Amino acid sequence: MTRKLFVTTALPYANANFHIGHIMEYTQADVWVRFQRMMGQEVHFVCADDAHGAPIMIAAEKAGKTPQQFVADIASGRKPYLDGFHISFDNWHSTDGAENHELSKDVYRALRRQELIDVKAIEQFFDPEKSMFLPDRFIKGECPKCGAKDQYGDSCEVCGAVYAPTEVKNPYSVLTGATPILKSSEHYFFKLSDPRCIAFLEEWTQSPGRLQPEVFNKIKEWFTKDEEGKGGLGDWDISRDAPYFGIEIPDAPGKYFYVWLDAPIGYLASLKNYFGKIGRDFDAFLADPEVEQVHFIGKDITYFHTLFWPAMLHFSGRKTPDHVFVHGFMTVNNGEKMSKSRGTGLDPMKYLGLGLNAEWLRYYIAAKLNAKVEDIDFNPEDFVARINSDLVGKYINIASRAAGFLSKRFDNHLSGDLGVEGRSLLDALRAQAEVIAELYEEREFGKALRETMLLADKVNEYVDQNKPWELAKKEGMDAVLHDVCSVCIEAFRLLTIYLKPVLPALAAKVEHFLRVAPLQFADAARAMGPHQIGAYEHLMQRVDAKMVEALFEAPPAPKVVPGGEDLAPEIKIDDFSKVDLRIAKIVKAEHVEGSDKLLRLTLDAGEGRLRNVFSGIKSAYQPEQLEGKLTVMVANLAPRKMKFGISEGMVLAASHADEKANPGIFVLEPFPGAQPGMRVR
Ligand code: 2FM
Ligand code: ZN
Repeated sequence: MTRKLFVTTALPYANANFHIGHIMEYTQADVWVRFQRMMGQEVHFVCADDAHGAPIMIAAEKAGKTPQQFVADIASGRKPYLDGFHISFDNWHSTDGAENHELSKDVYRALRRQELIDVKAIEQFFDPEKSMFLPDRFIKGECPKCGAKDQYGDSCEVCGAVYAPTEVKNPYSVLTGATPILKSSEHYFFKLSDPRCIAFLEEWTQSPGRLQPEVFNKIKEWFTKDEEGKGGLGDWDISRDAPYFGIEIPDAPGKYFYVWLDAPIGYLASLKNYFGKIGRDFDAFLADPEVEQVHFIGKDITYFHTLFWPAMLHFSGRKTPDHVFVHGFMTVNNGEKMSKSRGTGLDPMKYLGLGLNAEWLRYYIAAKLNAKVEDIDFNPEDFVARINSDLVGKYINIASRAAGFLSKRFDNHLSGDLGVEGRSLLDALRAQAEVIAELYEEREFGKALRETMLLADKVNEYVDQNKPWELAKKEGMDAVLHDVCSVCIEAFRLLTIYLKPVLPALAAKVEHFLRVAPLQFADAARAMGPHQIGAYEHLMQRVDAKMVEALFEAPPAPKVVPGGEDLAPEIKIDDFSKVDLRIAKIVKAEHVEGSDKLLRLTLDAGEGRLRNVFSGIKSAYQPEQLEGKLTVMVANLAPRKMKFGISEGMVLAASHADEKANPGIFVLEPFPGAQPGMRVR
């Protein structure tokens, strides 16, 4: 019976390009998906950008873009990575897509009908200058335990303490420097503490085969209350107040879903979007009890996927995940913090840019992976050894050793009779098909590859015993030579089947070389039979250790003219004092009709009057970003008559001499505490 699989990887935040951790997760899921497809299963493998949340909203504002534009720009950079590493998603979507807005509201309304939504007023830190509630990470202050300065609102990097943002001493907003005030507002909660939820989750998490044992054990801790009755499942705050980049909560103006509510629903939204493209019925598919829903995720987001997510689905009357497969992190050089001169980590784009073969990395990652929640490490020496000794030395070599004789002596025809010894070797290889398939199924990729390399060892022993290079010199041994080489090629085909989930591009080259249809797992049971194969072309290079070194080298330091501009001639302190610099508040900022460079600023320098200043910063700032901010103004500059009016001063801003190559204009802003009118000296 054909399985119907709906498979996802975690949706990456749309605020940065992929790092090696993403590529590791996608590789793990992709190998499993490709294996399933080779078994003839129906698989739908989808992902999307996780577009919402305060951090993305703020990053967009900093970049001077709308959040929509910001996430679209990130999304447009995804393809080179996915294609480059042969990640075979059927669809890539966004949690800001129409499907997700719709589905998230549907799920919420269903939970409300179940009386699982509560509204409670809570007090939170609010930035009075920015007029917004601050996420924990946007509050800093002194650690309540050890007093370390500039610690985040949720935990201290110096002593490791974890606390509530309200416990922080002398808190300030990372956005404006203002002291946050406590403000009350209504929040919406998903009542996870409801006995129905607890009963459901206890049963769901225990279902055999659904979760890895270590994941289940971790979840049990989350369920358990301590002696004081603390801990256990609490209600989950699913709302955030405007301004927020997200999905508006129905019947709750100014309230948005917390990003973690709509993010996993994005899995469904991407599938729905995909089914729309291929003309399939989304609702019917998910209503089909045979469909298996499978999520690959990292260990840090287990809580969301094994508690919140199944409960959201179940109580909105939907199918729940059949498997949540959790993996560990990927470290580089045993997590050693790389020094500046060695660069930082393994940048996947740099890897591809240097011409390193993507399938080497896929092979290496797969060789290290198992079904447990263990971290895996990238070690450069180990990488070179595994590719050169195992992959090329053991596997590729089999084909290159046999192909020369076949083309020179037998016009690339394979023989039909393979000899007793050859047949028994091939039988031994075929006998492992089930074992290897089972290992792929179980995500024991390291073991699957080890088994495959043991088979490659057997084939190489056969070659060493039969010595085709000697047979080729002996009279009357043509038929034997022909058989030996044909055995090698058939063995190579079998090994290629076993490696294809990991090495899809290489397998495609082999299929072309052997003139066979795309290999499926079932092809291991049948012989290729006598036919003429194609000309052998080089299939895979060895790794040059120097290329791997280059991967970890820091990029060359830029030429050292600071800011691209030589220093101005020396001046005396009196020269400097001639310039009267004052702190000024930007009371108003507006576009200037007819000018594509200027903004009109209304400045308050504490003089009891306001000044009008034109500033050439339109390319870098939206007026709203500037209003209410402090800056530095040249206050004694003679007024200048300009096309649009009189400019009564000048605002200080930094830029690179070569603005084309190094774009950006950065208006100066004083540290918190400065007041309009203060002199800058
Ligand atoms: O941790 C993260 O990177 C999240 N963006 C993962 C979301 S997974 C799913 F829920 F969308
Ligand atoms: Zn501390």
